[in-house]
Amino acid sequence: MEFLKLAEQRYSERAFDKAHQIEEEKLSKILEAGRLAPTACNFQPQKVYVLRTEDSLWKAAKLTHTYDAPIVLLVCYDMNIVWKNAREEGFHSGEQDASSVLTSMMFEAESLGLHSLWIRGFNSKAVAESFELPENIKPAMMLAIGYPTSASAPSPRHKDRKPLSETVEEK
Ligand SMILES: Cc1cc2nc3c(=O)[nH]c(=O)nc-3n(C[C@H](O)[C@H](O)[C@H](O)COP(=O)(O)O)c2cc1C
Repeated sequence: MEFLKLAEQRYSERAFDKAHQIEEEKLSKILEAGRLAPTACNFQPQKVYVLRTEDSLWKAAKLTHTYDAPIVLLVCYDMNIVWKNAREEGFHSGEQDASSVLTSMMFEAESLGLHSLWIRGFNSKAVAESFELPENIKPAMMLAIGYPTSASAPSPRHKDRKPLSETVEEK
């Protein structure tokens, strides 16, 4: 499918079909799309945790809203690997690299007929504690993926996008 069509079709899913499992082959393709994503200096600091056991999904649902997704990908970055910007003290690429990885996985999921939700509404410290992450691994965001239900629909504000004239400028 043409990319713009895919981008137009995608919306944040908040009513997943808990019982409809994601095929292994599709999950592999989604993870592969994340592997191919660009990262700063190609350092690839991402660490993606696949949450799909009852225990892991229960933990995730206690930390944030996961809307019954059968799989949640917890996307983290490794502070020992992130690119550090010599021109800007304190800056590192962790959040941006994780976003790049998540975005590729999100659109691959959409292209495979799955729905998804980008999630940041959690407390990083609580997530790190709950999943016993090593000190250097920082949670960036989650991607809930799964099939839709009859209750699935884009939010009323989904199509509410600003015109390019408001967000793009020649300089
Ligand atoms: C950085 C980021 C964080 C987000 N965090 C959450 C979240 O925690 N929970 C949620 O329901 N949606 C979350 N979303 C989804 C946005 O609310 C959603 O993409 C936006 O409202 C536009 O709607 P659409 O995706 O249906 O087009 C997040 C999206 C982004 C990009």
